[in-house]
Amino acid sequence: MGYKRLTFPKNAKFLVTGSAGFIGSNLVEAILNLGYQVRGLDNFSTGKKENVEEFLGNPKYEFLEGDIRDFDTCIKVCEGVDFVLHQAAWGSVPRSIEMPLLYEEINIKGTLNMMEASRQTNVKKFVYASSSSVYGDEPNLPKIEGREGNVLSPYALTKKVNEEYGKLYSNLYGLDTYGLRYFNVFGRRQNPDGVYAAVIPKFIKQLINNEQPMINGDGKQSRDFTYIENVIEANLKACKASHEAGGQAYNIAYGGREYLIDLYNIISKALGKEIVPKFGTQRLGDIKHSNADISKAKKFLDYDPEWDFEQGIKYTIDSYKKTIFVHSN
Ligand SMILES: NC(=O)c1ccc[n+]([C@@H]2O[C@H](COP(=O)([O-])OP(=O)(O)OC[C@H]3O[C@@H](n4cnc5c(N)ncnc54)[C@H](O)[C@@H]3O)[C@@H](O)[C@H]2O)c1
Repeated sequence: MGYKRLTFPKNAKFLVTGSAGFIGSNLVEAILNLGYQVRGLDNFSTGKKENVEEFLGNPKYEFLEGDIRDFDTCIKVCEGVDFVLHQAAWGSVPRSIEMPLLYEEINIKGTLNMMEASRQTNVKKFVYASSSSVYGDEPNLPKIEGREGNVLSPYALTKKVNEEYGKLYSNLYGLDTYGLRYFNVFGRRQNPDGVYAAVIPKFIKQLINNEQPMINGDGKQSRDFTYIENVIEANLKACKASHEAGGQAYNIAYGGREYLIDLYNIISKALGKEIVPKFGTQRLGDIKHSNADISKAKKFLDYDPEWDFEQGIKYTIDSYKKTIFVHSN
């Protein structure tokens, strides 16, 4: 069962931080479609105005421009909210290696501000984005909660610290926190542009524009690519999870494994392109293989991902075909 038949109290109010970004804007859309009130917060540092404007006509939607580094802003946005879905952060492992100080400020201090504001305003559930990068150099597959290695980047460390605060806030203050360790999420509205863009939207856009994509490494690295609908399900189900399931982190993935070179060939085939990719050096801070054991989230969050990689990639390519053609016209 996905999330479309989930119900919450009639006047339930959600806050989505990072609502102008990829995952945040998809969460906003899903909650509005379920008929509940949503407040969005974003500072547009990596998010897009068009991801906010799309929903502004909906009377159940409210947007505030602001920064999670400012505690007063965090208090203001949490007032009257039942469920916080905290997505605002800076992503990208390589960028964090270049700018560690900024990651400390945004991802650690910003998340602590949001957790503290949620505690002070009596939020019921605090659900936040963590990342598969917390597994670091742990070589065993599948990745399972409780068996983490040394982190390999400032980004991964920020997520690990978020999880420690999540545990502490649950034990010390009784705030129900749920850390969702996303594994390579993909889908509509993911930013295809810039050097730090994720691989799926980047390949799709480059191939549509007949450019030659670059694969970092030999293409034989593998990932548990997770379609956005599964991530929405995890967030909403965490809002319904028990108090006992709080204070912990959960793998959120499909539980499959795709090699990068196969992903490239699937996208090329779907777009009818025959462009041979360039191969570059493996990126610093990257791991070779990643795939998730999702049994903990299944057991404690009732997470049961409906969308496999093939279905997800088909919908994603279709959505980019429309938007990328619209932009270039
Ligand atoms: N996309 C993935 O595959 C993936 C994987 C693991 C974890 N995550 C995590 O999921 C969350 C969402 O990622 P995404 O892919 O949607 O990224 P995104 O960059 O599309 O969205 C993040 C949003 O947060 C906003 N933001 C950043 N700093 C802010 C600040 N100081 N104050 C207010 N808003 C701020 C940005 O403007 C942006 O709209 C992040 O926490 C990210 O670390 C994503």
